[in-house]
Amino acid sequence: MSFVNMRRKLLLGNWKMNKLVSEAKEFAIASRPLAEKAKANNIDLGVSPTYLSLAAVKENASKDMIVAAQNVHFNDHGAFTGEISIPMLLELGITWCLIGHSERRAYDNETDEKCNLKIKALIANKMIPVYCVGETLDEFEAGKTKEVVSRQVKVGLKDLTKEDVKDLVVAYEPVWSIGTGKNASTEIAEDVCGYIRSVLKEMFGEMSEEIRILYGGSVKPENIKAYLSCPDIDGALVGGASLKQDSYEGLLTNIL
Ligand code: 13P
Repeated sequence: MSFVNMRRKLLLGNWKMNKLVSEAKEFAIASRPLAEKAKANNIDLGVSPTYLSLAAVKENASKDMIVAAQNVHFNDHGAFTGEISIPMLLELGITWCLIGHSERRAYDNETDEKCNLKIKALIANKMIPVYCVGETLDEFEAGKTKEVVSRQVKVGLKDLTKEDVKDLVVAYEPVWSIGTGKNASTEIAEDVCGYIRSVLKEMFGEMSEEIRILYGGSVKPENIKAYLSCPDIDGALVGGASLKQDSYEGLLTNIL
């Protein structure tokens, strides 16, 4: 590639359904020096706690720590039992949100169309979506990876303008590599992330060079550097290895 990659690295921990509020708060406090270290090295660092822990993490973490919700509803309010809205997140100062994580797609009927409604609502509120895409093991084995991620990107991001997607983040997480220890090889990860960028280019032209693409799936302190050395991989979305303070620190330290 001939262009100079100006995209800032982004390391985001997805805590999924882990940590009590007290544990999340403790982690936020203990991570303050890490957030400052990341900033000094031009790396964006963040975590995505459960809804219940968002306020405690936001209040106790360094102001440089990104705090992202794991999901949101696309309506502002109403009769949607069990849901949380964008104004509720904004009241806590939360401006980032994961959308379309494969666990939500698998267990909560999160479709590409629903992701699109959520992404549009977030962008309309100047929030930053981290849109997760990725194929299942069956799709991978059937050679359908690119077909699947192309559909997810095209439908999830439909009706958006170039300006809308300037801060958007896409996370490529092959479902077969999540929590399994079977991480995708750097060749596969780079090939798919590069392909995602080409789909973004078809949709948004040169703005595709600004959009950060993360890899996720069994990322550990030992393998993170190899992923981030790939030209189209701008960061990592990390589950298991982001839960313990020393391993979270190791992820950052190994990409400084
Ligand atoms: P693991 O890092 O535990 O494989 O999880 C990846 C993930 O789903 C992050 O969103």
